[in-house]
Amino acid sequence: MDKYVVVGNPIAHSKSPSIHAQFAQSTKQDMSYDLMLGDLERFESQIKDFFEQGGKGFNVTVPFKERAYALCDVLSNRAQTAGAVNTLLQNQNGEIYGDNTDGIGMVRDITVNNNQSMEGKRILVLGAGGAVRGILEPVLSQKPSELVIANRTVSKAQTLIDIFGPEDFPDTKRAAMGFAEVEGEFDMIINGTSASLSGDLPPIPDSVIGNTTWCYDMMYAKEPTVFLSWAQGLGAQGCDGLGMLVEQAAEAFTLWRNKRPETQPLIKAMHEAL
Ligand code: ATR
Repeated sequence: MDKYVVVGNPIAHSKSPSIHAQFAQSTKQDMSYDLMLGDLERFESQIKDFFEQGGKGFNVTVPFKERAYALCDVLSNRAQTAGAVNTLLQNQNGEIYGDNTDGIGMVRDITVNNNQSMEGKRILVLGAGGAVRGILEPVLSQKPSELVIANRTVSKAQTLIDIFGPEDFPDTKRAAMGFAEVEGEFDMIINGTSASLSGDLPPIPDSVIGNTTWCYDMMYAKEPTVFLSWAQGLGAQGCDGLGMLVEQAAEAFTLWRNKRPETQPLIKAMHEAL
């Protein structure tokens, strides 16, 4: 039986084994998917040992995504831009290949599950940490007309904008700024700050929300997040990031097994069980 694991520290809370077990069942794959507690000292040798013992692949979560990136022999373009890896496999040459499926998972949740096109749209992204870095290339690949990254620490937003040269993604005008400097209405607002965790709302002006603004929170919780409550209070529609969790898993699964599992029934069931 082909073996896969998700490695992180802590890891006991991870929903990934249950998600992948359902994918394996629905696509009839003979595989196991378990939790692995990552060792803060010897993470790299844990990865190598698992592959040497015939393991097929990893999902990588906090705090190891950057260390996983550093140990790869080969990287996908989007992993390179993200500077972080959440999916590992061994290629035919025995090299460790790293990908990052977080951003494409979010884009699929927005564009397919929620039917919200990003092409030609004015998009505001809140936050400039690892989570936002992970989604940039997949978002830019959708050809929005404008991408504004707003962050409490403006220099971090500018660093993310500067990853791309002027000739990259020419369809999209890009800018970095502080929350208070954000001006005008946006078609889509994506919250990638960890502010929701502490119940804080990034201080952006209410005027960013127009009649048709659509909002996405990369976080999810049983109750609407503070960001979604704020947006809904101003009349906007939106959705939380539970679908992104399931979609990033589906992308990893497809990469490993060459079979794409259905995701929408699972997202619905997980929402109901929160
Ligand atoms: P992650 O991996 O979740 O992206 P991170 O790299 O620590 O975590 O980034 C956290 C992001 O949330 C950052 O953009 C951070 O802003 P700073 O760069 O200014 O630190 C943002 N953030 C965290 N708490 C916040 C708060 N209370 N208000 C606004 N932004 C907050």
